[in-house]
Amino acid sequence: MTPHAIQSRDDVMRVAKSETLITPRFYTTDFKAMDALDMNPVRAEWDAMIAEYEGDNNHDHFQRDATFKDEIRQLPPALQQEFLDFLVSSITSEYSGCVLYNEIRKHVDNPDIKQLMTYLTRDESRHANFINASLRDYGLGVDLANLKATKKYTYFKPKYIFYATYLSEKIGYARYITIYRQLERHPDKRFHPIFKWFERWCNDEFRHGESFALMMRAQPHLLRGANLLWVRFFLLAVYATMFVRDHTRPALHIAMGIDPDEYDYRVFDITTEISKQVFPVSLDTNHEAFRAGLRRLVDASSGYTVAKAQGGVIGLAKRAGWALVGVATFAKLYLHPVHRHDLPQRMRVAPAW
Ligand SMILES: [Fe+2]
Ligand SMILES: [Fe+2]
Repeated sequence: MTPHAIQSRDDVMRVAKSETLITPRFYTTDFKAMDALDMNPVRAEWDAMIAEYEGDNNHDHFQRDATFKDEIRQLPPALQQEFLDFLVSSITSEYSGCVLYNEIRKHVDNPDIKQLMTYLTRDESRHANFINASLRDYGLGVDLANLKATKKYTYFKPKYIFYATYLSEKIGYARYITIYRQLERHPDKRFHPIFKWFERWCNDEFRHGESFALMMRAQPHLLRGANLLWVRFFLLAVYATMFVRDHTRPALHIAMGIDPDEYDYRVFDITTEISKQVFPVSLDTNHEAFRAGLRRLVDASSGYTVAKAQGGVIGLAKRAGWALVGVATFAKLYLHPVHRHDLPQRMRVAPAW
């Protein structure tokens, strides 16, 4: 069962605003440092990418067609809850990108960065609004203006923004394309029409990731030396968060006909392959000990949730115990040896999955 029941608009806002280790956050950063970025080291690739944004091949994509409403079915209660939780967390992370990119856009004069952020804001706002329309079918919906004004913001130095945002864009691509391919093969498992939109949608996320890849390749010091310890940290944080969160939604995965382990490892494989464009290290997600650690994190997270619901002194003690298990397991995963590779000459990758 999902940790949150979603029945009303208030529930939606409570879930969207919740701050746990696995819920999407809102970020702010050092706008002056963003303004000072120099894209000249990657000028040719940068200009080609900006031309793609200008071309806007998805300008007509985020509209419902005539059949959309007809394909919405009544879902079993457990599936409906997990699906709503999935929609609310997806919209929160889409909108998190929208808010961050828009704030950067407003605060910089650097024409390269301003132009890029304008396109990113355009795309993420389309994505968030498209998901919101599906919540409205259930009489729900996220009040985006209210969320922007009231959700807590986490400050990240620009380099953390680059690592984290790059990864969340690329893993977002890998998630959407993996779901799309699965439902393409098994159309009977497509229990909601929104999944048909994922193919062209995920190409936006892919391109967003390319932008951050170029921003990092223009600052090579971010991709070597002691900074690789941060790269490892963000890789693990992003992968582990996704793994734990997906394992709170069993009914969703059963309905789509995908085992959550298989789905997550497939998404890791794709993300790892892509991320070799920027990161000279990658996580050994196919190693048995690494996988055992991820499963242990799921146990720690669900143990923590149960203990929290139990309350009282015993609940508190159990919570502390599970938190320790979580931290120790994360540390062990962090220390697990990584794969190393050289960065390719060609910086850009094509969305070929
Ligand atoms: Fe998006
Ligand atoms: Fe994106």
